[in-house]
Amino acid sequence: MANDELKKRAAEAALEYVEDLDVIGVGTGSTIGYFIAALSRIKHRLDGVVSSSEATTQLLKANKIPVLDLNAVGPLPLYIDGADEVTHHLQMIKGGGGALTREKIIAAASEQFICTADQSKLVDILGAFPLPVEVIPMARSHVGRELLKRGGQPVLRENFITDNGNLILDVYNLHILEPAKLEAKFNNIAGVVTVGLFALRPADVLLLGTSDGGVQTIRI
Ligand code: 5RP
Repeated sequence: MANDELKKRAAEAALEYVEDLDVIGVGTGSTIGYFIAALSRIKHRLDGVVSSSEATTQLLKANKIPVLDLNAVGPLPLYIDGADEVTHHLQMIKGGGGALTREKIIAAASEQFICTADQSKLVDILGAFPLPVEVIPMARSHVGRELLKRGGQPVLRENFITDNGNLILDVYNLHILEPAKLEAKFNNIAGVVTVGLFALRPADVLLLGTSDGGVQTIRI
């Protein structure tokens, strides 16, 4: 079964968590594309959605789902997003699509975080997927040197500017045994806006599309 089919199943399974909610947060990526398509079927029940990226905003608008400002709606009951890697403890690497900063803000502002993914994203140890780090442009070289000192191999994401006008360094060569510690450590480098490690605030529920045609639910 193709990965896209597994993503679609996981994304559709997230729909039942929306139930009677008025406003939810929505992430970014291909899995979330399937979720938005499913959400459009019940959009009449929602006041709107807080979007994590310009790409998601375009998709929401194309589906005629109102996009709301996080400042106007306050804490959210639910955030639904994908991941590049996720562990059994529901700690994640995110930011493959470059939307990590807004994703982390919405995750922090939400009571419940549901991660939707295909089974290839489930890992024992984070780090095979290069860790995205959003960086203020003038700090690019400084942050790169600091990441090298900490054992990473930073590579500038070519021809890419984030929705916030910043750069992404993708950090290779990491074998992340203590995700929360590494998140705090990288966050402390001057010039880093956001680290794509979601360990201090992991997901609460993982919906994993599996090749047997089912959806596995993992909670912490
Ligand atoms: C975007 C993300 C995505 O959730 C992550 O890259 C997974 O994407 P996909 O659903 O396309 O596999 O963090 O910044």
